[in-house]
Amino acid sequence: MRITPSGQTLGARIEGIDLQNPLSSAEIREILVALGQHGVLCFPKQTLDVDAFAAFGSCFGGLEINVANMFHEPEHPEVMILSNIKKDGKQIGLGDAGQGWHTDMSYSETIALTTILHAQKVPVVNGAPLGNTEFRNMHAAYDGLPADVKARIEGRTATHDFNKFWEMMRQRPGNTRPPLTEAQRKRKPPVSHPIAYTHPVTGKKVLYCTIGYVTHIDGMPAAESEALLDILYREQDRDQYLYAHRWTEGDVLMWDDIGTTHNAVADYGDHPRYMRRVQVLADRDYPAMVR
Ligand code: OGA
Ligand code: MN
Repeated sequence: MRITPSGQTLGARIEGIDLQNPLSSAEIREILVALGQHGVLCFPKQTLDVDAFAAFGSCFGGLEINVANMFHEPEHPEVMILSNIKKDGKQIGLGDAGQGWHTDMSYSETIALTTILHAQKVPVVNGAPLGNTEFRNMHAAYDGLPADVKARIEGRTATHDFNKFWEMMRQRPGNTRPPLTEAQRKRKPPVSHPIAYTHPVTGKKVLYCTIGYVTHIDGMPAAESEALLDILYREQDRDQYLYAHRWTEGDVLMWDDIGTTHNAVADYGDHPRYMRRVQVLADRDYPAMVR
């Protein structure tokens, strides 16, 4: 396995490993350490099948079955399809996943360690790939906070709500997401997580508070919460924390859902895009796994 850092705030390429094959525990450890260090890992030119893709994700934790699981691979409810492609006039995948800054599964009692996408079809226009996925470095954003802001968030939690992002998407013109049902909302009630979150792989603090799902800071008057959230959002918005992944078909992209936030750039219209996705729960003893 060769790991080549991008030289930017996030990102590394990992070559010399075929993800169709089972991983050794040494390889799992090396990938985990790289995930904490680089935040976004690209394994290019991968041809693994759906079974192997799910097995790869399972090396790092349990796989989530999405609460609004409208689109998934046959026999694999845990492997979601992200796509704008239509077959017989019907969507074959979720066409608008992640269009807005967010952290996958921060709305969940058990949060995600990582999300992994395998690019089957990447929109290309005039020779250039469209539909980048953008990331921000939350290790660096935490470090960049002024000392008084760090002191204000220490020991504080924020509430995260799955329905916030869902409703935000529904407000967009032409959006076809149905409202969440009562049963779906009950399965993912709002939850609280520390804002200064200790990353289980790096042991360092990250800023775990992104606009997509966060509704408020707990135990604070609304106006004070809004003002503090504004400071936190403005800090993470800085260009120096930004990294964009340009897709190539065959890429397996694995990102750190604790140490990064992300945004899907919707600039490709009807040019076909097809991604497989698994979301991996942070349900293992990572400090022990990387020791
Ligand atoms: C996601 C997501 C980004 C993309 O699947 O959670 O945000 O570029 N996807 O598809
Ligand atoms: Mn996402």
